[in-house]
Amino acid sequence: MTNEHFNFFIDRLTNIVNNEELIKLVISKKRRSSSELRKITVTIVSIKKGLRLNFVYTYSTKDITKNYNFEEGIEIIADNLTNDFYNADVFAKNENIALISSKKGNVKLLTKEPSFFTIESLNHDKNKKRYIQTNDNIYLRELGITKPNGEVFHKKIDKYKQINRYVELLAPKLKEIPQKDFLHIVDMGSGKGYLTFALYDYLKNKLKINVKMTGVEYREGLVKVCNEIAHKAGYSDLSFVQGTIQEVSLDKIDVLIALHACDTATDDAIYRGITSKSSLIVCAPCCHKQVRMQMSIENEINHIVKHGILKERQAEIITDTLRAMIMEAYGYKTSIFEFITTDHTPKNLMIVGKRTVINHKKRMYLKEQINSIKKLFGLKQHYLEKLMNI
Ligand SMILES: C[S@@+](CC[C@H](N)C(=O)[O-])C[C@H]1O[C@@H](n2cnc3c(N)ncnc32)[C@H](O)[C@@H]1O
Repeated sequence: MTNEHFNFFIDRLTNIVNNEELIKLVISKKRRSSSELRKITVTIVSIKKGLRLNFVYTYSTKDITKNYNFEEGIEIIADNLTNDFYNADVFAKNENIALISSKKGNVKLLTKEPSFFTIESLNHDKNKKRYIQTNDNIYLRELGITKPNGEVFHKKIDKYKQINRYVELLAPKLKEIPQKDFLHIVDMGSGKGYLTFALYDYLKNKLKINVKMTGVEYREGLVKVCNEIAHKAGYSDLSFVQGTIQEVSLDKIDVLIALHACDTATDDAIYRGITSKSSLIVCAPCCHKQVRMQMSIENEINHIVKHGILKERQAEIITDTLRAMIMEAYGYKTSIFEFITTDHTPKNLMIVGKRTVINHKKRMYLKEQINSIKKLFGLKQHYLEKLMNI
């Protein structure tokens, strides 16, 4: 089977394996019904000789296990997919990939966000790769995350993990977007700038991506402190500006980030991203009052909002569903997933939109669907619709 998708899949899998990011690979749907071999499951294991790919061959009545080095293992997988099986599902740290082949030889690739469960089940926490180094890290020290010797303060461990998690999630997405001379990344509602500093540092100094980064924050004191730290750290392409998400004047935005911007500030940020034709929009919504206050259900589903807490959760789901649909209607392919455990915050959904193209028919269809959902929940207008003037 020589096919562009197949070759891409093998290349991607090779990278995932070499970066030790493979959680599990399942090879399934046998090509010959007479074959006794039902599926093959591959994981990375550590044995005395080092890391190996562990193959579990599942037959109707038994399992057979074999270990191979990475290179050999990948060759065997390619061979199995060419001769014995149609499909493969890769569960990796940063993405899930499905390879689906048909009898006619057509090959399709689907990529998805990793499920939260999958990420957490990595269970490598002790040895987990940390994206943000603590030694000689000026901004972590100045932000009060680390002691002068680079040790993370005990009470800041969660924050440090959270910063790593953001960078871990965002960096691969940023690598995927079209590269220009430089990328202008804007962090709306940057607050104390934890993530802004960490992402800048990782992209600029580790990945060597040419970025210019701007944090937007209306609290003047925070802006001043963050600019001072950026100066101390020698981060010449990182600056913080005082202003509102709605009105701040900015150069063309390539990547828009808004993490925990309150209520409709998330919509203001998405609006700026869409109208600036940002390649990527990433937001982690905070409170969802605007939709909750409008909700008035007069049909049989009114029971789902009878109890305050359920109404609140329902409002969150509807708010973010409509946000994603509006983004889709403006050509953004969206995904929504949990990005951090609820131990840190109950607000743990991330909405990511990648700019693509959308035709008029699909946009009209989405707008109709948005209206149907609003009707069902008695909503007049989502704030983002108002901004987009729909
Ligand atoms: C909850 S904090 C989040 C900070 C940071 N993004 C994070 O996730 O750690 C929200 C920040 O957004 C700022 N903010 C909220 N609405 C804003 C607006 N309309 N314009 C500018 N800044 C805003 C607040 O002052 C606050 O610092």
